[in-house]
Amino acid sequence: MKEQLARNISTYRKERGLTQEELAQTLGLSFQAVSKWENAQTMPDISLLPALSRTLQVSVDKLLGYVSQDKPVTVYEETYKTQEYYWGTVPNEVCYQVLQLMPPTKHVKLLDIGCGEGKDAVFFARNGYDVTAFDVTDAGVEKTKKLAAQTGVHVHVFKADIVDYRLDTHFDILFSSGVLHYIKPDFRQEIFENYKQFTNPGGMHVFNAFVGKPFIAPPPENEPYAFNWYSGELLAHYRDWYIRDSAEIVFDCNSSGIPHQHAMSKMIAQKISDIRV
Ligand SMILES: C[S@@+](CC[C@H](N)C(=O)[O-])C[C@H]1O[C@@H](n2cnc3c(N)ncnc32)[C@H](O)[C@@H]1O
Repeated sequence: MKEQLARNISTYRKERGLTQEELAQTLGLSFQAVSKWENAQTMPDISLLPALSRTLQVSVDKLLGYVSQDKPVTVYEETYKTQEYYWGTVPNEVCYQVLQLMPPTKHVKLLDIGCGEGKDAVFFARNGYDVTAFDVTDAGVEKTKKLAAQTGVHVHVFKADIVDYRLDTHFDILFSSGVLHYIKPDFRQEIFENYKQFTNPGGMHVFNAFVGKPFIAPPPENEPYAFNWYSGELLAHYRDWYIRDSAEIVFDCNSSGIPHQHAMSKMIAQKISDIRV
C-alpha cells in the first residue's frame, strides 16, 4: 500500500499542477516530507489525509488505492473463482503480432491493462517481455500469479481499477483486450493522455474496445459500469501517432452460455518521436 499511496500522491499532485514545495506549504510541512511520501520512504500521518485529499481533489479511498468491496465492480470476480480458466490459457492472436512488431531483442516493458486471468500477460512474460499487469478482480490477480508460477515466469501483477489507475513510469507497450469499455466516456481523454505520456518513443499501444452498433443487442452480462465506444473513437486519440493496424470487426460470443454478438474496434498505434505534420 505504501508504494501505491506514494504513486498516487505524486500523480495527483502533478495533475493539479503543484510542486512538492507547494503541496508541502499548503499542508504546513517541509517539502522533504512530501518527497519522502512520494519515494515511499514514509507515509502521511492519518490526521493529514482529509487535507491532503482536499488539496489533491481526490477521495481518500482513491488516494489509498482502495477499491470498494461494497459493490461488485465486475461480474468477473465471481466468474474467476473456479479452478478453470474462463478465458482459457491460449493467448489472444494479436499477441503474436506484437511479437513480430516489437520482439524483445532489447528490454521491453509491457503493461497488460485488465489482464483477467493472465493468459496474455503470461504469454508475453514467457516470450521475454518484462510484464506488469493489473485487473480489478482479486480472483483474476490470483489466477494470473498462479498461471505465471505454473509457467515458470514472473509477472508483476496487482489489483487496480482502470478508472483510478494512472501511469507514473514509462512502458514500451500498453496492451489491453476487452477492458476499455470500463472507462466512462468522460474520463477517456485524460486517461489516454496519461497512457500516451508514459509510453516511450517508438512504443506501442495494442488496444481493442467494444463499440456500440444499432444492429447488435446489448450483451447478456448485466454490467452497469460498462460503456461502449463509438466507431472511430479509439483512433481519434491517436491522430499524432502512427497507426500500424486498425480494424472494426463483428464476432460471435458465447460468454455466459448465451450466444450473442459483439462489435469491436482493434488498433495498434506507435508513438513516433519525429512526426512531420
Ligand atoms: C473481457 S475480460 C478480458 C480479460 C483479459 N484482458 C483477456 O482478454 O483475457 C474483461 C476484464 O476486465 C476486468 N475489469 C472490469 N472492470 C475493470 C476495471 N474497472 N478496472 C480494471 N479491470 C476491470 C475484468 O475483471 C475482466 O478481467
